[in-house]
Amino acid sequence: MRLIIKEGYIVDPVNNLIGEADILIEEGIIKKINKKIEENVDNIISAKDRIVMPALIDLHVHLREPGREDKETILTGTEAASKGGITTILVMPNTDPAIDSPEAVRLLKERIKRTARIDVLIASTITLRREGKVLVDFEALKKEGVVAITDDGSSVDDENLLLKAMQEAKEKDLLLLLHCEDKSLSSKGMVNLGVISTRLGLRGIPKEAEYRRVERDIKLSKKINAPIHITHVSCKESVDLIAKAKKEGIRVTCDTAPHYFSLTEEELLNFDTNKKVNPPLRKKEDLLAIKEALKEGIIDCIASDHAPHTEHEKEVEFENAEFGTIGLETELAVAITYLVEPGLIDWCKLVELFCINPSKILKIDKGTLAIGKPAELIILDPSKEWVVKKDDFLSLSKNSAFLGMRLKGKVEYTIYKGKIIYPF
Ligand code: DOR
Ligand code: ZN
Repeated sequence: MRLIIKEGYIVDPVNNLIGEADILIEEGIIKKINKKIEENVDNIISAKDRIVMPALIDLHVHLREPGREDKETILTGTEAASKGGITTILVMPNTDPAIDSPEAVRLLKERIKRTARIDVLIASTITLRREGKVLVDFEALKKEGVVAITDDGSSVDDENLLLKAMQEAKEKDLLLLLHCEDKSLSSKGMVNLGVISTRLGLRGIPKEAEYRRVERDIKLSKKINAPIHITHVSCKESVDLIAKAKKEGIRVTCDTAPHYFSLTEEELLNFDTNKKVNPPLRKKEDLLAIKEALKEGIIDCIASDHAPHTEHEKEVEFENAEFGTIGLETELAVAITYLVEPGLIDWCKLVELFCINPSKILKIDKGTLAIGKPAELIILDPSKEWVVKKDDFLSLSKNSAFLGMRLKGKVEYTIYKGKIIYPF
């Protein structure tokens, strides 16, 4: 199969390719990128007035397989990802059962091999059953192909245990992805603690629950010079701590999710359970700090924290609703609408946040449009406006915090290993 993508506006900062050009793809590989390519091919896609950029890499995704295939499966989740322009995801291990043993990883790998439409990388837990008591067998899991470890959904309370995990992760070269939350502070909170939680009459989660853990985990990382990645950063204080740590040369990277730079706690005044997420939506000042940190490179990348839940788990009283929003099909457009459109960042920075930096953090050779590499790219209409509608989601769950919003930027094609996988 030979394919030419004609006259697209290419954004590939790694290779300093920015501007209009044609791309020739042959046998799944990028063969040529030139101003004009005239060759006999099987398929030509016109990309006039379109952006052509590397496909996205999302390092925080919950597919619910095994155990909760009614919420999302590897098939539906990876189809949703392909629609969102994503060709690589890291899946979280808080499934049922949790991914905490080589056997569980083997089973998951089999299912991925059978049904995944894109590359699915596997994270295992840090502790058995995510109970925070006994560490998993890092060596065996690494051998089985696990690339990251995380107790996402919870934080490891025991400092000594986490220190050991950091040491092991460092030795085995596994990405340690940390959910920072002191549950003794967040207890049974549901929304950010403050005026809004009082007005709603709901128990609040203080920011301290997050940033005190960020502070502790940075301290531990510093102690043994071990790299850590802090996930879903949501407040100003966390950003400040991470900025300071980076300045000191501490090996910390982090991500945030689109809802933390587009929505605030005020959105909860109508008790919309789709906006009940953990960590909770914060105040305007936090949102502004997150945006600034994305621009300044303090926050390294954007990840969706795609967290599918069924209608009967979301369409209930706020107190009883599950935490989480889906995000695979909206993350790029939310970032374009809230970061690129207002002029905060340019397209190159967007590619850095979604492609280049996640590749570096995961240590995978992706995120660029290099000649001789597998073609994993997207063609995007940057000016297309669309409204987020329940019926349009490919994801099995429809619990989007962005429902009803008008967004800008739509993926027209996703190409994975040289083949068009979206639309399908
Ligand atoms: O909102 C969230 N949902 N935050 C988490 O940490 C876990 C996730 C889930 O698994 O649903
Ligand atoms: Zn998560």
